[in-house]
Amino acid sequence: MSNTATITTTHHDLNKNHWENKVKLMEKSKIFLDFFASDLIQRSIDLYFNITTEERNVSILDLATGTGLVPFKFVDEKILPDKIKISALDGIDFAASMIEGAEYKKQSRIEEKQVEFDWDNLKFQVMDGQELKFPDESFDIVYSNMGVMFYPKMVQGLSEIKRVLKKGGMAFVNSWTDDFPNRVSSQALFEVLQQNRPPFALQDPKVFEQRCREAGFEHVEIRQVTQSLKMKYSELQNIFNMGNQFATLVQKYLKENPQVTSTEKELLDRIDQVSRREFNISNNDEEIEIISIANVVILAK
Ligand SMILES: C[S@@+](CC[C@H](N)C(=O)[O-])C[C@H]1O[C@@H](n2cnc3c(N)ncnc32)[C@H](O)[C@@H]1O
Repeated sequence: MSNTATITTTHHDLNKNHWENKVKLMEKSKIFLDFFASDLIQRSIDLYFNITTEERNVSILDLATGTGLVPFKFVDEKILPDKIKISALDGIDFAASMIEGAEYKKQSRIEEKQVEFDWDNLKFQVMDGQELKFPDESFDIVYSNMGVMFYPKMVQGLSEIKRVLKKGGMAFVNSWTDDFPNRVSSQALFEVLQQNRPPFALQDPKVFEQRCREAGFEHVEIRQVTQSLKMKYSELQNIFNMGNQFATLVQKYLKENPQVTSTEKELLDRIDQVSRREFNISNNDEEIEIISIANVVILAK
């Protein structure tokens, strides 16, 4: 196999079209996203909502909301102290399919009448997080669970958070580090295709902090949080639809690199072997441990 082989579509090639087709993936990988979303919310409860002494209204924005994982936590669970009333709960995402998914969840809840909420206060909009349409100082709290990390114009996107935050407001934003849920298998893919895995933009906590400062935040705290999860290897393959995903990537790779003599099947088998070797397992039903680590920034204006 030649060393000059290239692969131009990876799980890091994340433009709008990529995300438009990822609603199912988002739902299936909720087991990972949910843990980190709850972590962001818990930090905001400890550092903001529980500190507030008097009754008050709060406005909340969730950036790159996907199908609304963060906002629906406020709708479905009684997580805020009684003295806090939500006057606005906004979720934005640049992928229309994600917003449709969020709207669907909202409508289902309205129809099922199982949760009470002031539904006019919950709004989802298609919007690019790097160019928010909200006026300055609109929100008390801003979240983004594994979203901002994908912005190409990172400092501009983080500056937008600062712009829309009220004075005294706070933002809670996280990013995958080098230990993300499907790291082992995607590294196997890159190893077999002789590529370096492109890093996530905010995987280095120092860079994350630096970008926040460049965006004008003076109060930046950075933390790390780890999730350890056990599941069967086959479950992980199913969550990330690895069979299909990897086959598509390998086909593209072979098309772009006609000098490569291996067949699609040989490459896919090799990726699977490397994955299992890293997990130290010999069959799909064996249990593996997945360690995911996120950087979390806590921003105050
Ligand atoms: C890993 S998903 C996380 C979704 C959601 N926050 C959750 O926890 O379920 C990343 C999301 O970021 C969105 N996204 C990426 N770049 C964006 C941008 N520039 N503006 C708005 N949304 C963006 C994608 O469409 C996708 O829904």
